[in-house]
Amino acid sequence: MNIVLIGFMGSGKSTVGRLLAERRSWVHRDTDEIIAAQEKMPVGKIIREKGESEFRRLERQTVALLAGQDKTVISTGGGVPLDPENMRVLGRNGAVVWLRVSSHRVLHRIGDARSRPLIDPSDPLGSIEQRLREREPLYAKARYTIDVDDRTPEQIAAEIDLLVSKENS
Ligand code: S3P
Repeated sequence: MNIVLIGFMGSGKSTVGRLLAERRSWVHRDTDEIIAAQEKMPVGKIIREKGESEFRRLERQTVALLAGQDKTVISTGGGVPLDPENMRVLGRNGAVVWLRVSSHRVLHRIGDARSRPLIDPSDPLGSIEQRLREREPLYAKARYTIDVDDRTPEQIAAEIDLLVSKENS
């Protein structure tokens, strides 16, 4: 089985995923990193230059590939749950965990909104809040929800480790 981390940008999926994989001696994979390496450009540039629908197509391919792995912590891009098929394949063999973050924390964490193609730099907080509202019902389909605002990545990784270990004992 796998552990799949979903949630909005800035929720810490990549950092927590790396720590969690280390704790369990599992492999860590990150959908954005795989796509960027394959296309030889950062994902923000792919979205700007090739369009969001092409990026989503690459993301679906990557998700399908990773879902077939085992003992892998999969950190997903924030938009992965937009496609129900992505969630279906990831959930077949994975415990899906939502890292729930507040809009203010996202704003604080993403730093320069201009480098994020899906955030409007003239109204970063407003655009984060709008996208969060659209996506929260999709993220909420996860098996587990962890509030990340006031916790360290180490604490979050330890909590997920415990939840998943309990489930399998
Ligand atoms: C996206 C989130 C990004 C990246 C892309 C699209 C989104 O990933 O996949 O810019 O639609 O929310 P992170 O959540 O890792 O920042």
